Amino acid sequence: MPGELKPFFPFYGSKWRDARRYPVPRDGVVCEPFAGSAGYATYFNPRAVTLLDLDPIIVGVWSYLIRVTPAEVLALPDLAVGESVDTLPVPQEAKWLIGFWLNRGSAQPKKSRTAFSTRTERSQLVWSERARVRIAAQVELIRHWKVSQGSYETAPRDAETWFVDPPYVDKGRYYRFRSVDYAALGAWCRDLPGFVIVCEQDGATWLPFEPLATIKSTRGTSAEVTFLRGPFDRRAASWDRRHRPQGPRRRPPLQAG
Ligand SMILES: C[S@@+](CC[C@H](N)C(=O)[O-])C[C@H]1O[C@@H](n2cnc3c(N)ncnc32)[C@H](O)[C@@H]1O
Repeated sequence: MPGELKPFFPFYGSKWRDARRYPVPRDGVVCEPFAGSAGYATYFNPRAVTLLDLDPIIVGVWSYLIRVTPAEVLALPDLAVGESVDTLPVPQEAKWLIGFWLNRGSAQPKKSRTAFSTRTERSQLVWSERARVRIAAQVELIRHWKVSQGSYETAPRDAETWFVDPPYVDKGRYYRFRSVDYAALGAWCRDLPGFVIVCEQDGATWLPFEPLATIKSTRGTSAEVTFLRGPFDRRAASWDRRHRPQGPRRRPPLQAG
């Protein structure tokens, strides 16, 4: 059920909150070749998921989440203000996971909990018993997900839906890995089998992008654009209409090119 799985960790540029704005995936494998926190796959929770990322930290965190038991997650410790994750007797991947929770809206994990982050904690879910309960309740549901480290072009070409969310030309500088040849990526996207959703921001020209929505993010608003290609799943689209949250529609429905 879409929206049932909540984000496993906060991440700069996560698409979880806005996943409902994008077309729903078709049946079969969903591939996120620029995984980050895999907001689209997490939100839609499809039957099969393949994740790829160039960043070994991201891949380490997902590998850990895919194999860890709920009991191990629940046993992860809290962090006192000033304390560093490096002092914790837990696997490196768990330190990175906790580090993402300490640094909300960032593209890299943080090492320690500061007094400042404590002040911003009131309205948000932070690293705590509640976060551990959320993750522990969800890890059994992603046992079948596959993750590998590598560049997007090495993704197995067996997916029915591709959610391609690279570092944006303009705002991608916060990622540890951000050097992308956009002309080559555009050609790769056009050549993919199946249904393809490519994300960018207004101003990008490496594909013929169409407006999607203006989205509020941790760093202001961004005018999101998409490139859609392949057979459009009408059954999925009608599902999307029935479940769209109430309120006026600002943009016409998406059409695949
Ligand atoms: C915009 S973020 C993805 C956000 C993701 N959709 C989410 O919901 O969190 C882009 C990701 O691409 C990764 N990346 C950068 N260059 C890459 C490449 N050549 N191949 C695969 N991943 C790459 C970065 O490490 C980063 O995690």
